[in-house]
Amino acid sequence: MKGSFDHFMQKEIYEQPESVVNTMRGRVNFDTHTVNLGGLKAYLSTIRRCRRIVFVACGTSFHSCIATRAIFEELTEIPVSNELASDFLDRRTPIFRDDVCVFVSQSGETADTILALRYCLERGALCLGVTNTVGSSISRETHCGVHLNAGPEIGVASTKAYTSQFIALVMMALQLSEDRISMAERRKLIIDELHELPRYIKETLALDKELQTLARDVLHKEKSLLIMGRGAQHATCLEGALKIKEISYMHSEGILAGELKHGPLALIDENMPVILIMTRDSLYPKVQSALQQVTARKGAPIIICNKEDTGISNQTRTIRVPSTVDALQGIITVIPLQLLSYHLAVLNGVDVDFPRNLAKSVTVE
Ligand code: UD1
Ligand code: BG6
Repeated sequence: MKGSFDHFMQKEIYEQPESVVNTMRGRVNFDTHTVNLGGLKAYLSTIRRCRRIVFVACGTSFHSCIATRAIFEELTEIPVSNELASDFLDRRTPIFRDDVCVFVSQSGETADTILALRYCLERGALCLGVTNTVGSSISRETHCGVHLNAGPEIGVASTKAYTSQFIALVMMALQLSEDRISMAERRKLIIDELHELPRYIKETLALDKELQTLARDVLHKEKSLLIMGRGAQHATCLEGALKIKEISYMHSEGILAGELKHGPLALIDENMPVILIMTRDSLYPKVQSALQQVTARKGAPIIICNKEDTGISNQTRTIRVPSTVDALQGIITVIPLQLLSYHLAVLNGVDVDFPRNLAKSVTVE
């Protein structure tokens, strides 16, 4: 079952060049630059007319919603909100018939997400599912949706499901915006880059040895690790921190770089390990100023940046990844963090695939 790999999680990280293709298969036409999600066809006009789109999920699935909110809003021009299923229910959030609610769940059996789905169904909202498990509760009880087709994910910590959820949500945004001529150029660029993803992912997986060394020689004995970024990379920080926490049991925190001066900067000194995600996008200058704030306090961040970025001094420790369009860059920047969390867990001698206290799907509230 694990093939040549030591753990399911490692296998699933390495499967991503293929799983992303499986998620796009039969849905993205790279010649005509169109997307066709069969399950949504009958509902497209209803979704386009909705008042807002509410994403509801837990854990890593919630991070895939954060990762794609900006591109969803940009392409569809519909307001989007992200909700953690447990808090959404605690607040008894107002939901109406003209809302569209999207439930993202790898297992399709997470209790909080199912309860949120039923809450929205009772209020007459159109409910979509994005699930990796055909026939699961969420897949069956939603009005329509998209299956990831990423193949079974055994490791409790989600990896290939995250990148496939990311792509499924981008595909939804692309399909919904096909009635907007003004978005045609942007759509074409994103679809061209979707075609290159398997190659980018393979190139990034080749950094594995470098990340194993980083885990062993630099981070293994540390007590905590801060991961900073902003814009499209905020979700990557949250997801990277969750991976490190859930499988290596080392404390880690994802921080929005724009929030640094409102508190987290107090944690920075020469002893606090920091990873900064600084890929080339419109917010690069703002992340540069966060870098200066950290280095001014004797912090020495490890920077995840683009291969081609010559603007970073080679004195700085960098993890260099292929560059792609901002809307998809988070699929690439999360991979070094998946690999890093894996190696930290192995060094800590803990059960990588079945971490203590956790379950692959929390089917009770
Ligand atoms: C479907 C078939 C696929 C076939 C393809 C041919 C299934 C599971 N998929 O894929 O085998 O190759 O047509 O065009 O039979 N749905 C939900 N909630 C969810 C996920 C899906 O209601 O969370 C619904 C969809 O609206 C759709 C059906 O389930 O009606 C299948 O979804 P999906 O597999 O994504 O549809 P296709 O990609 O068209
Ligand atoms: C947790 C899993 O129990 O549930 C996470 O350990 C997952 O990996 C979260 O992201 C949500 O699960 P699902 O199946 O709803 O995506």
